[in-house]
Amino acid sequence: MPREVNVFLLPQQIQPEELRGGIAVVIDVLRASTTILAALANGARCVIPCGDVATARRIAADFSRADVLLGGERGGVRIDGFDLDNSPAGYTSARVSGKAIVFTTTNGTAALLQSQAADRVLIGALVNRRAAAQELAADQRAVHLVCAGTEGCATSEDLLTAGAIAAELEARVGGTSSRDDLALVARDLWTAESSSGDRLRTALRQSRGGRNLVELGFDADIDFAARVDSIQLIAEYFPKSGRIEAVR
Ligand code: MLT
Repeated sequence: MPREVNVFLLPQQIQPEELRGGIAVVIDVLRASTTILAALANGARCVIPCGDVATARRIAADFSRADVLLGGERGGVRIDGFDLDNSPAGYTSARVSGKAIVFTTTNGTAALLQSQAADRVLIGALVNRRAAAQELAADQRAVHLVCAGTEGCATSEDLLTAGAIAAELEARVGGTSSRDDLALVARDLWTAESSSGDRLRTALRQSRGGRNLVELGFDADIDFAARVDSIQLIAEYFPKSGRIEAVR
């Protein structure tokens, strides 16, 4: 039976009741969702998403110093006094293994917090495209692919990633249905831009988030985010505990 797959271009477009009963996959491929997955793949105990810097500092202060790292960005760069920025490559096992990462970013963590009404909230990126689709295929609930965008503007890098997950899911379940044509548009974008690794990296560089990163000198983070299926991990956000954990 075709699975319902809806794409939200921006978290601001979501009415909480639209997510109830379904699975939200929050996508901020450049870079928050890629970085969260890198941290968990490298042994971080959990990632705690926070909407603002003051909350992040307060939550981190509840941990003993050895057990916690503060990570994230504002304006794309490391926040004053934070241990890590939002570059996935910085979340090495030497740095993050066994630690809780208290994390705040401009758009990605906000999108997560706005998706809490769903039955489950997963983290989606190109690096875990196949793993995410596999997890979704094993469940009958409607799928909501929530693009984080950038400060209220839709971004092609997140739409492309939504298309990557939708296409992989469709291949597994044999068809999808949507409330509108956005999942179709996303899937076609993915099909067009993923014909080679070079083409995919170029599409990411030309996207809104990609242009910001190039300007800030974070080109390497785009290459990291473009490593499709390099992380076989399901990261799930549990609003009650406030934590994102690797569940598979
Ligand atoms: C965000 O959450 O706004 C992004 O991840 C920004 C960034 O690339 O640092």
